[in-house]
Amino acid sequence: MCGITGYIGKNNNAIKVVMDGLESLEYRGYDSAGIAFIENKNLNIIKEKGKIANLKENINFDIQSNLAIGHTRWATHGEPNKVNSHPHSSGKFTIVHNGIIENYLELKEELLNNGYEFQSSTDTEVAVAYINYLYEKDNNILSVLNKVNDIFRGSYAFGIICLDDLDNLYALRKTSPLIIAKGDNENYIASDVPAILKYTNKYILLDDFEIAKIDEDNITVYDKNLKEINKEVLEFEGSLESSMKGGYDHFMLKEIHEEPTVFKNTIDTYLDTDFKNIPDLSKYNKIHIVGCGSAYHAGLIGKYLIEKLANIPVLVDIASEYRYNKVFYDEKTLVILISQSGETADTLAVLRKVKEDNIDTLSIVNVVGSSIARESKYVMYTKAGCEIAVATTKAYLAQLTTLIILTMYLTNNKELIDEINNMPTLLEEMINIDYKNIALSIYENKDIFFIGRSIDYALCMEGSLKLKEISYINSSAYQAGELKHGTISLVEKDTPVISISTNESLLEKTISNTKEVKSRGAKVIFVTNNDIDGDFYDYKILVPKVSELLQPILTIVPLQILAYEVAKLNGCDIDKPRNLAKSVTVE
Ligand code: F6R
Repeated sequence: MCGITGYIGKNNNAIKVVMDGLESLEYRGYDSAGIAFIENKNLNIIKEKGKIANLKENINFDIQSNLAIGHTRWATHGEPNKVNSHPHSSGKFTIVHNGIIENYLELKEELLNNGYEFQSSTDTEVAVAYINYLYEKDNNILSVLNKVNDIFRGSYAFGIICLDDLDNLYALRKTSPLIIAKGDNENYIASDVPAILKYTNKYILLDDFEIAKIDEDNITVYDKNLKEINKEVLEFEGSLESSMKGGYDHFMLKEIHEEPTVFKNTIDTYLDTDFKNIPDLSKYNKIHIVGCGSAYHAGLIGKYLIEKLANIPVLVDIASEYRYNKVFYDEKTLVILISQSGETADTLAVLRKVKEDNIDTLSIVNVVGSSIARESKYVMYTKAGCEIAVATTKAYLAQLTTLIILTMYLTNNKELIDEINNMPTLLEEMINIDYKNIALSIYENKDIFFIGRSIDYALCMEGSLKLKEISYINSSAYQAGELKHGTISLVEKDTPVISISTNESLLEKTISNTKEVKSRGAKVIFVTNNDIDGDFYDYKILVPKVSELLQPILTIVPLQILAYEVAKLNGCDIDKPRNLAKSVTVE
């Protein structure tokens, strides 16, 4: 999703720092980019559609600047083109913006009636014009930005330059994340930590409605009453190194290879000889799990495990549905929010709605200090480290691991410790299998189906999402018994069907359903932990058999790598699939 970087200082060239920052945010997904910088007190703005490389070609890096803001845009209002891309200017102000101003049409109307004109279709151009409009009446930047907090509805993180005060860079946020990073005689703003890691690892998290006034030496943060407040300076533990590709062709592959370590790190955080760092959950008799995309799929696995083994009813829903649905909960309900980024707008909105109703929340989040983590009653961090590839793999695996630990905790089951210790080795084995032949046999197909029952169906959904999002092949997941109620009409000669069966008690049923597609010409890839042979499949992927609780951890790996190999054969931009963003901070 959109990315923001900004710099003020004398040690570096602002243009270079901001462009470096934008490049390290490329993984978030975007469709245009732009920069505004001050050269000899004059404002310059350069914007381009497409990749940051296009923008770089138009920038003269010999120009010296001490103040700049930059942006990568993922289009929401108006198509991705040069005019709609950020920064946007009006009068004395230039801004970059993440988020959506929901009442921008109303504000635009007021501005049009007051003589303002607009070039773009964006809410951001309205936002900057409105800031300028207020400034024409008030002439005090801080008080104008404070008013904006009352007037703008929706979500925003702004980086702001005012031509009347080139000694300062301004920032404010509501809902969309923003950090202010600290250097020596230089300071930065960014929507994400990786943007500043090349220069510093010290940062402040800006909270909702806070305004930051930043010069090269000082960062001053104001609350809603424009009172100065002290903010904690945090240090990012990882390094830029650790978020680089480390010899792999793609971040996605590197991140899959990190899964054994991620599993171990997540386990070690919550379990040694006993459970640790887990909140007391004994009072809850009902659980709701909410997330989007893969996080929702992880929640489905959690439902199967918790309901079956801990005997607690679990409702799983997609955040964008749950937030508008009628939900039934009470003081004994725990709402679990799952999110890699901790910033997904719909999941965050659910959290806030649930909190308003005084319902307890537990978030399972990867990014430390993210909004969802900070605002939840309890948080369990997944220890996946920085995930760069847009398609999640290791963070999803860490979510599964956390849900497994929760199930063990809820059932007070510590018997699996030996088996758990062996899991990283088994994960390595699954990662090192060569899936290229299977990928070669399916990568030219237009439609691919995944079928499975019970918990395997939840894995099918994740396998199918992984495949379609990075390879652009149409793919659907079905409960194995459901196919013959309609969808089987789409199965023809050589249609790939990936059939998953890891549950002994349902093996025969799933095999019967697999035979139904095989007899209609399907090319079957059978993923199982059962060493059964037969003529109902073309390829078999044998997954080591482990306890029911741990099985999904191993079964997901071939699905992730198969998606990767198929996308690679199709020449796709694996780490940055079209139209997608790493952190979806709009509704
Ligand atoms: C798919 C994927 C997305 C995310 C979803 C939620 O590979 O990455 O479906 O799972 O956008 O994001 P988070 O987990 O950051 O809330």
